[in-house]
Amino acid sequence: MPDFAQKLVLWQRRYGRHGLPWQGTRDPYRIWLSEIMLQQTQVAAVIPYYERFLARFPDIAALAVASEDDILQLWSGLGYYARGRNLLRAARELVKAGRFPDTVEGIQALPGVGPSTAAAIAAFAFGRRAAILDGNVKRVLARCFGVEGEKAQWTLAEKLLPARGIETYTQALMDLGATVCTRAIPACGRCPVARHCVARRDGRIEELPTARKRKPLPLNRSTWLVLLHKGSVLLERRPGAGIWGGLWVFPEGPEGNVTSFCRRNFSCEIAKSRRMPLIEHSFTHFKLRIQPLRCTVRKILPRAEAPGRIWLEVEDAARAAVPAPVRKLLLGLA
Ligand code: ADE
Repeated sequence: MPDFAQKLVLWQRRYGRHGLPWQGTRDPYRIWLSEIMLQQTQVAAVIPYYERFLARFPDIAALAVASEDDILQLWSGLGYYARGRNLLRAARELVKAGRFPDTVEGIQALPGVGPSTAAAIAAFAFGRRAAILDGNVKRVLARCFGVEGEKAQWTLAEKLLPARGIETYTQALMDLGATVCTRAIPACGRCPVARHCVARRDGRIEELPTARKRKPLPLNRSTWLVLLHKGSVLLERRPGAGIWGGLWVFPEGPEGNVTSFCRRNFSCEIAKSRRMPLIEHSFTHFKLRIQPLRCTVRKILPRAEAPGRIWLEVEDAARAAVPAPVRKLLLGLA
């Protein structure tokens, strides 16, 4: 296609997204933070998180001295919490190194930064002529050029790069994928390259990109113990680097006989317990079906608190570093 990049650049200036909070800066910290938050996450969801995060941590030095709990509290509800943990690790490395790397390779060496994210940061912060290939761009290339597959798409993405104006071009690709060449019903009437689009020419818009055969996600089950004592709930910090690692969640329990379980594990006497509505939550690789049990605690014996376990008033718990389904349940109790 002749002048693919030029058409996109002209289109972006007029019809692309402008005035997003991470635009109009060359501050690598602000750009890096935005690109991490925008991984797997829509612009509208990111904006309030981005602004709160920057208000609290205006630069890398401020971030580097934060605790993981502080970061996760600000990340609470945004999902993919490994992003927050990696951001902290990377900030500490950057402070040690004394400077932000200005090459794709250097940026990609930071924890949590893959090739496409590194290229986006390098383009926006340093004007590096680097190709991005995220989910949206893969769809645009599949449709426009009929090219699929990781390797072929990277080669194509690199070949399409303009000699100048990498920032606008990179933003144009993202904007086209997000606002015109959308997954479900693309707005070809508004597309600057529709006349050259292979999918359109061949009537294959529905077929491209080729859907991968997805195995249904395995279903895991869990019982949550919502222990309530005088307006407070018991939360536990998930250990390790798993999906909710470092976040505060309700303790998991057995399906039956919670009374003896709670006495043994939490030094609590349960007056009564009843089922709450089931919660389903999807992760990338599995689904989780949660049965919360609302347990009224009659008495807490001494030594009820342990490291990594805390009684919090419901309102405070909802403001802590909790994943979205925990916050939702807490808000329903308040
Ligand atoms: N998605 C990933 N990076 C983005 C950016 N800089 N602007 C808008 N959407 C994005």
